[in-house]
Amino acid sequence: MKIAVFVSGRGSNLKALIDAQIKLRKFEIIVVISDKKNCAAFNIADDNNIKTFSIGNGEGSISYQHLPNLLHDTGVELIVLAGFLKLIPEDVIKKYQNKIINIHPALLPSFGGKGMYGLNVHKAVYRSSAKVSGATIHFVDLSYDTGKIIAQKCVDISDVKSPEEIAERVLEVEHELLPYVVNKIAEDKVKIIDDRVSILK
Ligand code: GRF
Repeated sequence: MKIAVFVSGRGSNLKALIDAQIKLRKFEIIVVISDKKNCAAFNIADDNNIKTFSIGNGEGSISYQHLPNLLHDTGVELIVLAGFLKLIPEDVIKKYQNKIINIHPALLPSFGGKGMYGLNVHKAVYRSSAKVSGATIHFVDLSYDTGKIIAQKCVDISDVKSPEEIAERVLEVEHELLPYVVNKIAEDKVKIIDDRVSILK
């Protein structure tokens, strides 16, 4: 299965996927796309000989209008948003229905939506005094963080002293959950049955 990974920053989830690709050989990341001209995730892609494109209006970027062609020409079958901060254009979402997934660093449907990214999420979780947080992988629809949930993994945060500590614990489970789900999709084991997402054994 050919994958495009969309990123905006550090790229630690991209790295987790690359490690799983090498270990499991069930999928291939063929392109990494960012709304930034440069980001740490691009260095990770370069180190692993994966093509990169920056998307937007600037010089040397490909335009959002050109995105469907790029995805089509590279034969992308699954789009993974791993820390991508922009909305995916409507035409792409419609064309790749249930073929775009996002990782969110909290337990949706709580602590999601516009502006809920990075440390903002963990600060809100911290302030709420929630005793568990975790990672969610969901299908992408037309708004932020509202698509059907594919998988979640919880972490105990009852004893944390800061939002940063929550971020650290959640990131650890993100790096397990994302490769797990992508691998299950590559094995065609993620199904929507009776309007509910199930992962087959
Ligand atoms: C992760 O916490 C992910 O859940 C969120 O953005 C962050 C990206 O981190 N959507 P990284 O770039 O993969 O290190």
